[in-house]
Amino acid sequence: MANKVTMEKIVSLCKRKGFVFQSSEIYGGLSSAWDYGPLGVELKKNIQNFWWKEMTQLQDNIVGLDASILMHPKVWEASGHVENFSDPLVDCKECKSRFRADQIDLTAACPTCGNKGTFTEPRDFNLMFSTHLGPVKNDNNIVYLRPETAQGIFVNFKNVVNACRLKVPFGIAQVGKAFRNEIVTKNFIFRTCEFEQMEMQFFCKPGDDDQWFDYWMKNRMEYYSKLGIHPEHLRFHQHGSDELAHYAKDAFDIEFLFPMGWQELEGVHSRTDFDLSRHTEYSGKKDLIYQDPITNEKYIPYVIETSAGLTRSVLMVLCDAYDEEELEGGDVRTVMHFHPRIAPITVAVLPLVKKDGIDELASQIEKGLREDFRTDYDLSGAIGRRYRRQDEVGTPFCVTVDYETKEDNAVTVRFRDSMEQKRVPVAELSQFLKDSIKNYSRT
Ligand code: GAP
Repeated sequence: MANKVTMEKIVSLCKRKGFVFQSSEIYGGLSSAWDYGPLGVELKKNIQNFWWKEMTQLQDNIVGLDASILMHPKVWEASGHVENFSDPLVDCKECKSRFRADQIDLTAACPTCGNKGTFTEPRDFNLMFSTHLGPVKNDNNIVYLRPETAQGIFVNFKNVVNACRLKVPFGIAQVGKAFRNEIVTKNFIFRTCEFEQMEMQFFCKPGDDDQWFDYWMKNRMEYYSKLGIHPEHLRFHQHGSDELAHYAKDAFDIEFLFPMGWQELEGVHSRTDFDLSRHTEYSGKKDLIYQDPITNEKYIPYVIETSAGLTRSVLMVLCDAYDEEELEGGDVRTVMHFHPRIAPITVAVLPLVKKDGIDELASQIEKGLREDFRTDYDLSGAIGRRYRRQDEVGTPFCVTVDYETKEDNAVTVRFRDSMEQKRVPVAELSQFLKDSIKNYSRT
């Protein structure tokens, strides 16, 4: 991978700068659980908002939903998760380490203790977390933490159709937490037990599904270039028949070149009428049958799903943005080339000196920008060092306020990527930054 990025460097930068912290660190940490710090929460929120706008506001026929994490347990019987949502696991009889059978060589020695021939037979382990609803624990009140957001959309299909008077084809989008009791949880926030998904289920007429599948594959790949991701770090991977999930007729992953290699970022799945048919069968309600208001034709719609990981997207964006650039004189700057639309801080205002009213003026200018941008105000240290600090957290624009500002009412805008500078009147600053964001392309 380009730009000398390694997972160690990303983890270290994330902790140092406040993107991501180990969960419960003061107690030694909880394996595979992570907390988003002040910059991480901004970055994650900006990616989510970008996805939401692209998938709802800018589309003709996609609406949003926010379903609850706990759902009726029958949902997960109907969806097939109780029966099928499992990984094959083996234990080492010597050291008790547990592995996914499909991810290690079962004829080799145990990766933890080095013993050979000590694995148990593989057995299926369901990935859903369960708990009990109410004060009494018994088999009748088991509920699951949802392992995907998708089912909240399927069970609300009729509610949404009726409330919004929607006609097929249309989509329902949702962002939210999902939970899986994953065994392999290395690689930082790539695979965790608690994570966030951005999913959209697109309902179409049976027979039109192949055409919509192609449409969404293309659309979703284009989305990543709008997000500023290097096209050479992205590719499609079609699922072979052995990889297809129980609900899928066809599936493509969009993969990203992470430091540990090509890995799934998003799935585009052709789910047929599997989910709506199963919920019709398990609920005993005919609610999920759609009647075309013009032709009166009745059918269960087919579904094309786009399912992206939000927390995994954060990792992708961090890895793709990371760079170490050698400057004149041999100095190296670490810079995060986030697209300005998703950078945690959009503009930092830096007074050149802390005296003669320059700092007050700078503070005033910074406050004036807050309505439109996430800002930072930094007056400590040499200006070069302050630029470096902003580069390292990916702030696309720094605004320097100096003695001349008092005379000409203008500031110097410094661009993160090119390090070029431009004098801009304070009265035009906000619009200038908005235009620069709109016209941004990574150099
Ligand atoms: N509704 C379909 C579905 O959930 P999936 O391929 O299992 O499909 C979709 O998951 C996306 O969710 C993945 O491409 C990935 O980005 C994200 N994801 C899945 N499991 C994850 C985990 N344990 N940690 C982080 N992200 C995960």
